[in-house]
Amino acid sequence: MDNPFRPTFGASPLVWAGRTTVLTDFDRAISGAVGNPDRSIVISGSRGIGKTVLLTELEDIAAQHGWVVLRASAREQIAESLMQSVIPEAIRRLSPPPRRRITGVSVAGIGSVRTDVETTDSVPRLSTQLRELISHLRGTGVLITIDEVQDASPEDLTQVAVTYQDLVRDDLPVAVAMAGLTHGINALLDLPGATFLRRARHYELGPLTLEDARTALADTARDGGRPFEDAERAAQFSKGYPYLVQLLGFLSWEAADALGTDRIDAHSVSDAIPRTLERLGVHVHQPALREVPARQMEYLRAMAAIEADTGSSDVSTAALSEHLGRPSTALSDIRARLIERDLITPAGWGLVEFSQPYLGQYLLDRGRPQRIN
Ligand SMILES: Nc1ncnc2c1ncn2[C@@H]1O[C@H](COP(=O)(O)OP(=O)(O)OP(=O)(O)O)[C@@H](O)[C@H]1O
Ligand SMILES: [Mg+2]
Repeated sequence: MDNPFRPTFGASPLVWAGRTTVLTDFDRAISGAVGNPDRSIVISGSRGIGKTVLLTELEDIAAQHGWVVLRASAREQIAESLMQSVIPEAIRRLSPPPRRRITGVSVAGIGSVRTDVETTDSVPRLSTQLRELISHLRGTGVLITIDEVQDASPEDLTQVAVTYQDLVRDDLPVAVAMAGLTHGINALLDLPGATFLRRARHYELGPLTLEDARTALADTARDGGRPFEDAERAAQFSKGYPYLVQLLGFLSWEAADALGTDRIDAHSVSDAIPRTLERLGVHVHQPALREVPARQMEYLRAMAAIEADTGSSDVSTAALSEHLGRPSTALSDIRARLIERDLITPAGWGLVEFSQPYLGQYLLDRGRPQRIN
């Protein structure tokens, strides 16, 4: 039996959990009339919370409605990559063979234009290309998705924004969905030219409800051919973090394999929990902490100690200042840097928490000597 869980970033789960509001709103927006404000969407959240797979899900919905999906990554120049490869490819795919020979001229034309036109002309060029693409469509539209949008340059986003508005003004069927880390997106939203982003429908992704996590665990295992008996406890351990749901599910399945049982029982889950923490440490916590300077590490360790003391994931900045023997004002810069790194999150007035589950425990455990069997 193949393991049905997918603890891989960017890999869509076999069983989808939660997020139904986003999906139904978007479905309604693209099936409805042109100009529906929910056709531009911003999704923000922490690492591993499920932004990329949600974008993929939106792409699937659009595709089911016959829409063309253009995927751009903010790691490259968005407008340029759309114009140079993504849109020409989509046009090529759409135009039927006899027509292709004719439009081949214009497709080639698009290719050659880019070498002799200055980048300041990007907006009209992007708009023209999208209009050409849309002219091939009958009753459907074009969805542009942009992942890791926190890495986009404001100029690049402006090009997309101006083009989008240009098309919407002419009642053309376009939609845009963007996803990125919370802090980066909030920083973009604060920029003076970001009206377009501020008008978009904004969803901040939090953990799944425990009920959704439990259903995802139970249904994924069942579809894979093995009942998940202890899904309740596994869901609680996951704290609703989608990556952790997949990871614990995956390792519990492996544990059941090793134990030779045809169901995932309490034993399998108990076996899987320490391994899950270990993998989470190696794949998520360790890379996230790699370049954190000493002062910030000290702050994180203090948080971990206070969290363990109080048993609450919300840590007060007053307690931190006491623990570190420095006034709160002296710590506010460190706190800001850690929020930027998506390691901690403000949790209400004067409170912070770790962005990732079990990060506190990881920091405490790592300080201890390693136990050798
Ligand atoms: N709604 C969901 N139901 C079940 N599993 C999910 C869901 N959302 C995400 N996952 C799982 O969680 C993991 C992380 O998802 P994803 O890669 O989308 O996170 P992300 O927010 O894009 O992370 P990063 O910020 O690192 O890019 C994947 O293994 C994915 O299958
Ligand atoms: Mg992602």
